[in-house]
Amino acid sequence: MNEEIPNLPNYDDSSLDAAFATLAEEVRGETASLVDVEAFRLRWLGRKQGRLKLIGEAWLKSAPPEARKPLGMRFNQLKQQIEAALAEAEAAPPKRTGKAGIDVTLPGSVRAPGIEHPLLKTMNEIVRVFHHLGYSTALGPQVESDFYNFEALNFPPNHPARDTQDTLVLAGQQAKPSRDRLLMRTHTSPVQIRTMIAEAPPIRIVVPGKVHRNDAADATHSPVFHQVEGLCVDHNITFSDLKGTLDHAMKALFGSDVKTRFFPSFFPFTEPSADVQISCIFCAGKGCRKCKHSGWIELLGCGMVDPAVFASVDERRVAIGGQPAYDPAKVTGFAFGMGVERIAMILHGVSEIGQFYSGDMRFLEQFA
Ligand code: DAH
Repeated sequence: MNEEIPNLPNYDDSSLDAAFATLAEEVRGETASLVDVEAFRLRWLGRKQGRLKLIGEAWLKSAPPEARKPLGMRFNQLKQQIEAALAEAEAAPPKRTGKAGIDVTLPGSVRAPGIEHPLLKTMNEIVRVFHHLGYSTALGPQVESDFYNFEALNFPPNHPARDTQDTLVLAGQQAKPSRDRLLMRTHTSPVQIRTMIAEAPPIRIVVPGKVHRNDAADATHSPVFHQVEGLCVDHNITFSDLKGTLDHAMKALFGSDVKTRFFPSFFPFTEPSADVQISCIFCAGKGCRKCKHSGWIELLGCGMVDPAVFASVDERRVAIGGQPAYDPAKVTGFAFGMGVERIAMILHGVSEIGQFYSGDMRFLEQFA
């Protein structure tokens, strides 16, 4: 404790007042942010090296006799100030500082646990329904070739069916044969092809994933969105299996009261094709604004795998040195595809698709 002893030039009242005011100020400064109470006590009141003791000795030594009393009184006052500060520090709860450890009485910092994004949650719910039926998950790339996204799915080059899926293509592909040109996949259906080329039947897969279309964003469209695809190929798979499977899946997702109905439709890679509608979950089929007073909500596309798709698959399997495995006389199958955003919007009553991508915590927290 090699503190400097302040200089006391004079022993008249005003010099004493000024000198003690400086000391009192020093004490106040230290007590304002008192961390180590014991160090403060030792520094000021330590018996041998305490500041009061050292300063007292120094100033008394050369004090004229008549200054001893006023000096002593002022030292007593200063001592009282120090003792009061010590008493207060001991009564108060410890302050939290980086130096002196943790104040266990402070409330903890609240950290909200993370949650699944509502789209991921819906996607996982859909996938889980099919896992329970024995399906496994398959994934594929978002940057896809024309062959997988279109050609093998029986979209012939320049066929108008391609126009229904406004495709985002990668630049600089013109030199390649058209089937090798790269694009952003417009649906998850190319993973059907990838899986069948890699594996012989039986196949039961669901394919969750991101897809891209050159669509203008509006309340129900986004250029990037999500689908879950399904494919089941085996011996003796019939349209009844398709109906039973999707009817079960819709009941598992929307509640056991929903009914399904199948409408004739067209997709190049299924024949016959159907659109699946569920009875409106908002009005139980009576008709309301949400179902445009029809009592039904259109939800997904499906159909029996077109033999032309099996033919493309076998052609490629053989071309890469494998065995054909998809003879349409022996194997049949069904496929389906659904939009995750659309299902999430219906399940949760969301009217603006953009809410899913906004990152607005007030929206997202509702799914916690
Ligand atoms: N790929 C279709 C689309 O994005 C959806 C679809 C329809 C998938 C019928 C299928 C299916 O597997 O069988 O519009």
